[in-house]
Amino acid sequence: MSNVPTITLNDQVAIPQLGFGVWQVGNDEVVSAVGKALEVGYRHIDTAAAYQNESGVGRAIKESGIARDELFITTKLWNSDHAAADARRAIEQSLENLGLDHLDLYLIHWPAVQKYGNLYIEAWDALQGFKEEGLTRSIGVSNFSAEHLEAINGAVPSVDQIEMHPTFSQAAFRATLAERGIVPEAWSPLGQAKDLNSPVIGQIAQDLGKSNAQVIIRWHLQIGNIVIPKSVTPERIAQNFDVFDFELSDEQLNLINSLDSGNRIGADPATATF
Ligand SMILES: NC(=O)c1ccc[n+]([C@@H]2O[C@H](COP(=O)([O-])OP(=O)(O)OC[C@H]3O[C@@H](n4cnc5c(N)ncnc54)[C@H](OP(=O)(O)O)[C@@H]3O)[C@@H](O)[C@H]2O)c1
Repeated sequence: MSNVPTITLNDQVAIPQLGFGVWQVGNDEVVSAVGKALEVGYRHIDTAAAYQNESGVGRAIKESGIARDELFITTKLWNSDHAAADARRAIEQSLENLGLDHLDLYLIHWPAVQKYGNLYIEAWDALQGFKEEGLTRSIGVSNFSAEHLEAINGAVPSVDQIEMHPTFSQAAFRATLAERGIVPEAWSPLGQAKDLNSPVIGQIAQDLGKSNAQVIIRWHLQIGNIVIPKSVTPERIAQNFDVFDFELSDEQLNLINSLDSGNRIGADPATATF
C-alpha cells in the first residue's frame, strides 16, 4: 500500500525514507497522532526514551492492528544510560514501553561528551551486542560529528540522525557520511516550522501547487535524506505524507540548497551540556 521509497542501510536493513517524528508530543496526544500517521500510511515512527512517549507510541501501534513486519520503529538511548549495564536496562525498558520484542533501529541519542566524556564509545559496543542478540535489527547514532564517528569501534553506524533543514543543510557533513556509508537522517526537517516561512520555499510551493512543508520534505527525499517530520495536526500529518506525486527540478533543489545559513536551531553536539 505504501509508495514510500526505502533506503537499504549498510547492514542491508531497508528503512522507509519518510517517517513520523514525535518529539514534544505528550504520551496521551501521541496515541492519536501516531494513530493518524499509521492511518494515512506512515510505517516508520521515530521516538526516543527521552521523549517519554514510548508507551503511547506502543499503544497506537497495537491499536492499529498493523503487522509488526510492516512497521519500522526507531527509539534512542538517552545520554545518562551510556554505560553497558545502563544501556541494557534502557533498551529493555524501551521495548517494554513500546510493547515490542525488537526494534528496527536503535540510536545513541547524543555523544554527550561534555557531561559523560567518552562513555558513548561503551554505548556503541553495547548496541552492537543488542543487534547480535536480535533486540534491534539496525543500530545507528544521532548527533555524532566526524570525531565521534572516528572514535567508535567495530560496526559502522547505519544512520546518523542530525539536524538538517534548508537553513542548516549540512552539505559538507553529508558528503562525509556518504564516504563512510552512513545514511543521513534529518531531525527538525522543517526547521521546527521556521523554515516554512522562507519566501524562496513559498515561491516554489506556489509554482508547484504544493505546500511549503511538502516542498521541504520533497527536497530532503531528493537529496537522499531520511526525513521524519512531526505534526500533531491531522491534516498536516496527511499532507506531509502526500509528497510522491511531484518532483523538484535541479534548479529548485539548488535554490533551496542556497538557503543554508550555517546556523543551527538545536543544540550543538560539541558543546551541549546535557
Ligand atoms: N535526534 C535528535 O536529537 C532529535 C532532535 C530533534 C528532533 N528529532 C526528531 O525529529 C522529529 C522532527 O523534528 P521536530 O519535531 O523538531 O520539528 P519539525 O518536524 O522540523 O517541525 C515540526 C513543527 O512543524 C509544524 N508542522 C509540521 N507539518 C506542518 C505543515 N505541513 N504545515 C505547517 N506546519 C507544520 C508542526 O506543528 P504541529 O505539530 O502543531 O502541526 C511543528 O510545530 C522529531 O519529532 C523527532 O522525532 C530528533
